[in-house]
Amino acid sequence: PPAPPVPPALPSEGSGSDTDVDTPPEPGLGARNVGAGLSDYEHIDLTLGGGTGPVDASGGWNASYVRMPCHEKNTVQERPGGPNFSRWEVVKSVLACPLQSFPDVKDAILAYNPTMRSSWDISGLGDYLRNHPWRDSLFSTTIPAIANLALRLPTLLPNPIPLLRAKENKAITLNQLQIACILANAFFCTFPRRNDTRKTAEYASYPSINFSTLFAGTKEGRCDPLKRAKLDCIFHYFTEVARRGQWANPGNVTFHRQRCSSFPTFASSTATFGPVAVCATGTIEDDAPGHLEVDFANRVIGGGVLGRGTVQEEIRFLISPELLASRLFTQRLEDSDAVIMIGAERFSNYNGYAKTFEWGGPHVDHTAQDARGRFNTRIVAIDARPYGPRTAGTQYTPQEMERELRKAYVGFAPSPCVESANGAEDRSPIATGNWGCGAFGGDAQLKALLQFMAAACHRRAITYFAFGNADFADELADIHAELMAKGVTVGELYACLVSIADRAWRDETVFGYVRRSLPRLRPPAIGLPPVSGETAKPQAS
Ligand code: AR6
Repeated sequence: PPAPPVPPALPSEGSGSDTDVDTPPEPGLGARNVGAGLSDYEHIDLTLGGGTGPVDASGGWNASYVRMPCHEKNTVQERPGGPNFSRWEVVKSVLACPLQSFPDVKDAILAYNPTMRSSWDISGLGDYLRNHPWRDSLFSTTIPAIANLALRLPTLLPNPIPLLRAKENKAITLNQLQIACILANAFFCTFPRRNDTRKTAEYASYPSINFSTLFAGTKEGRCDPLKRAKLDCIFHYFTEVARRGQWANPGNVTFHRQRCSSFPTFASSTATFGPVAVCATGTIEDDAPGHLEVDFANRVIGGGVLGRGTVQEEIRFLISPELLASRLFTQRLEDSDAVIMIGAERFSNYNGYAKTFEWGGPHVDHTAQDARGRFNTRIVAIDARPYGPRTAGTQYTPQEMERELRKAYVGFAPSPCVESANGAEDRSPIATGNWGCGAFGGDAQLKALLQFMAAACHRRAITYFAFGNADFADELADIHAELMAKGVTVGELYACLVSIADRAWRDETVFGYVRRSLPRLRPPAIGLPPVSGETAKPQAS
């Protein structure tokens, strides 16, 4: 196993501070976050006894809330034009019956999803259940427990769940049992209006939540190995939830859609670079306790977790399935948004990556919990821009760099939902890596520098995982050491990077260009007078 990185020390208060971002927000949940250009912030605690309650006569059956399966207005027609039935009554009747075989499960799901009978393929789940070594215990214990949990929805979540919509800076806290109930409903595909995949559908800009896509089979009706691995993670999670039974003391999880309404002028930022530890090996989730972990996200949070994806974000969601609840209420991310998820428990280990991903057995999470009963695990979802072979060149334009810098900036801004021990803003170090540079095809050198700049603006240290690329780790550590030693500012690096667009970027690496063009990094020309305005900053001897 890789040696854990040494968490870098935080720069002292005020060092390299950027006046644009320095206003301290009021601490504590529910406070208005006025720092770092963040817009007004609202926190809704839905844990039992909390929440807002229905805000109008619709009882939350409107565009501001998740349309809940147990709402009286959730009706179903057996055939078009036929009479309306309460959909929840159908759910209750079918899930209360013994589910002893795959056809029982399938018939139950299709009973309240009659319009999906001809289009849904859930043969992969059938193949999985028929051939799984845990088959008997899944049918005797786990699946009945999922059904029971799903049916507890009206009592566990009596208040409507607000949507975290675009342009909102809002947080929701749920407890682990409420989340398990949400995921049990997702497993049984009970969420209304979430199966419509048309562009005009009410939830077209939301992630999918019903698990039907996870259950899809191959052309031959088999469960492919990656779906099998995903189902292993999901069934292990539900098996563990079932084992906890009534779950006397569930912890809490907060989901915060953080939005910046204004950004600093990076070009004039005088922030300087703080500590960075570069690790050639190791992973964000295993080797950076106490850090803010970056989720290399899709703008649709969770990405392909219920479909085909098995890279960083999907794996993170599969090993900590409580993160999946974010998909119920988080509208597609915009350029000024990030989602910070605080407190999710990790249930699984994994082996492999992407096409070789496999469930790696149970994980017992020993992470300490905070005063609000949340595991001290904080994950921030930031979606990089996707580039393909034909669009890769566009990432070097100032507009794209500004976009990526802003995205990292909003993600790295201290969330008011995280309280540090002394009540001050949370500036714990950030655990990140090749954000946007795998499936999304970005340039790792450029993205690393942009992330360093965003972290510097917030005076946060970084632990960077190079994911096995030792050469890149060395180069990154070297250039960071130079940026720090020579006192380069964010503004100076910004000016240098945005000028890349003018160069033939195909012929030179970003690090090479920065070294050649950034006045402070350029070696002094021997015997020649310095060019006006480009004098290297005098260094202490
Ligand atoms: N720890 C550290 N580094 C990692 C880890 C890890 N656990 N896993 C992967 N890497 P990618 P993207 C490195 O492709 O390009 C998903 O579908 C590894 O070098 O997941 O931002 C999302 O939903 C890898 O190549 O992120 C989006 O749709 C690199 O990080 C999309 O992928 C990038 O990981 C995002 O793609």
